[in-house]
Amino acid sequence: MDERVAAYVQHLFAREDSVLQAIRARHTHEGLPDIAISPEEAQLIAVLLHAVGARRVLEVGTLGGYSGVWIARALPREGKLYTIEHDPEHVRVARESFAAAGVEDRVDVLMGDAGDVMARVEPPMDAVFLDADKPPLGEYYRAAMRLLRVGGLLLVDNALLGHRVVDPADGGDDVVGVRAVNTLAATDPRVVATIVPVRDGLLIGVKVAD
Ligand code: SAH
Ligand code: DHB
Ligand code: MG
Repeated sequence: MDERVAAYVQHLFAREDSVLQAIRARHTHEGLPDIAISPEEAQLIAVLLHAVGARRVLEVGTLGGYSGVWIARALPREGKLYTIEHDPEHVRVARESFAAAGVEDRVDVLMGDAGDVMARVEPPMDAVFLDADKPPLGEYYRAAMRLLRVGGLLLVDNALLGHRVVDPADGGDDVVGVRAVNTLAATDPRVVATIVPVRDGLLIGVKVAD
């Protein structure tokens, strides 16, 4: 997108308030990697969560809670975001972010390995957002499909992986995992999906059948 057009859209629809700005600043201050989703990607996710009437959402990969605050804000008061993170430092920062945003009642941070925790989370989920490690994405896809209700949303960050997905010479573990989840979503008869080229690519799928 043209830079001025991108700025126009972000300014109108995806502006960070002071809480989100402070969370981003703390990420930097605490030395967390600068890999949170962008405001325009976050707003796209918020629009989609509202479209499906999401009340129960699972996020895989919390980091410092930046995406989690956007998601929690898109839920009704009685809604719940479950968010999985294995790094205790990230969990600590994230809990502070959720408290700062006043959404701590709507968020359960589940500390542990994504694969283990996903296996013991209870369905049904209205949306699952995969944004943790990339090599096991095929396994995370299967776990997400178990959890999603019909009509639920599958969201996968980094679906283009810096355009590495289209480099046939690139066979790295990360790109293999991202290609696996993209191919599964594209070919699964239960899912209607596409990739939107926002930031690093967001795969959006709807589970249309069990
Ligand atoms: N969704 C966040 C960014 C997540 S970055 C945002 O946009 O704000 C990816 C996170 O996944 C990191 O915090 C990392 O520690 C966590 N992670 C990576 N592999 C994991 C695993 N196997 N289990 C649980 N968490 C994992
Ligand atoms: C990077 C970005 C991400 O969104 C992510 O989930 C992991 C890594 C990166 O830019 O390295
Ligand atoms: Mg990501």
